[in-house]
Amino acid sequence: MAVVLVTGGAGYVGSHACKALAAAGHRSVVYDNLATGHRDLVRWGPLEQGDLLDADRLDAVLAAHRPEAVLHFAALSVVGDSVREPERYRRNNVEGSLALIGAMERHGVRRMIFSSTAAVYGIPQRLPITEDAPLAPINPYGETKAEIERALAASGLAWTALRYFNAAGADPEGEIGEHHQTETHLIPIVLHVALGLRPAIAIFGDDYDTPDGTCVRDYIHVSDLADAHVRALARLEGGGTSGPFNLGTGRGTSVQEVVDLARTVTGHAIPVEHEPRRPGDPPVLVCSNEAARAALGWQPRHDAATQVADAWRWHRRRFGA
Ligand code: UFG
Repeated sequence: MAVVLVTGGAGYVGSHACKALAAAGHRSVVYDNLATGHRDLVRWGPLEQGDLLDADRLDAVLAAHRPEAVLHFAALSVVGDSVREPERYRRNNVEGSLALIGAMERHGVRRMIFSSTAAVYGIPQRLPITEDAPLAPINPYGETKAEIERALAASGLAWTALRYFNAAGADPEGEIGEHHQTETHLIPIVLHVALGLRPAIAIFGDDYDTPDGTCVRDYIHVSDLADAHVRALARLEGGGTSGPFNLGTGRGTSVQEVVDLARTVTGHAIPVEHEPRRPGDPPVLVCSNEAARAALGWQPRHDAATQVADAWRWHRRRFGA
């Protein structure tokens, strides 16, 4: 049993990690400023409201709970916003993480599992993407995450950076799920159409060099992500070396296939509109997850159909009539 500080634990992936920590017998303490998180997603331990840039508050929380490790999710994560407001993203994500690393060093907390992203790779030269691919982000959001990975490598901490591909789905037991104030992600938007909250889904580009012309992504169930965090924590506790791991299924699903899956799951026609390509979208992002399988004994358990079905159950409960 370990006490674990979970920054951003009131958010989508962070809340699922708290549930997985509890199932593994750990005690989570959530540190979240609730700027984008939700109080009602904090169910497996106390919520300490605070900002990463508030050094006094962070010191007080670390002194009170004396965690053995930190799971660090807290970040701004909307790619489009990061293009419009790069400085806000830098300050919140990079400076916030540097402040957290500094506070951990002051309090003798030695281990961090960091929530990183496929966005650190930019447009990949080779598929599937392996962890040794160059870090070449093409938007400020990805740049902030790459910079934090570099800061961890330069720190005295033992760390694991988990580079998620497209996080999707919701807790299979329906307790928690995805809820962003500004929704930009494909699966939630498609389900909003099925709920009648939007008239149609706009498909951004149907002329890519892919089997059906729409972009291909590697969607990974949020509970599989959560499970990988618990395993990464155990690995560091056992003396594992620091470094990054890709987290994805290793299988690609196109935008059109996501829409088709959602039609089957929801029974709704889900009208489609074809729009121009969204700037900055790589045609295909699919990872090699061999390193995570080997080092963490991890394997993804939920395919894209299950991700859409679990997300649908959550969306119907949260937003449905
Ligand atoms: N898409 C649409 N219509 C929409 C929304 C999305 O066609 O209304 C398409 C996008 O063009 C893309 C795919 O659906 O091809 C997936 O888009 P998302 O916005 O759901 O996810 P991204 O692949 O853009 O982004 C994800 C994470 C980011 C991370 C990025 C890494 O959400 O945090 O992968 O490249 F930075």
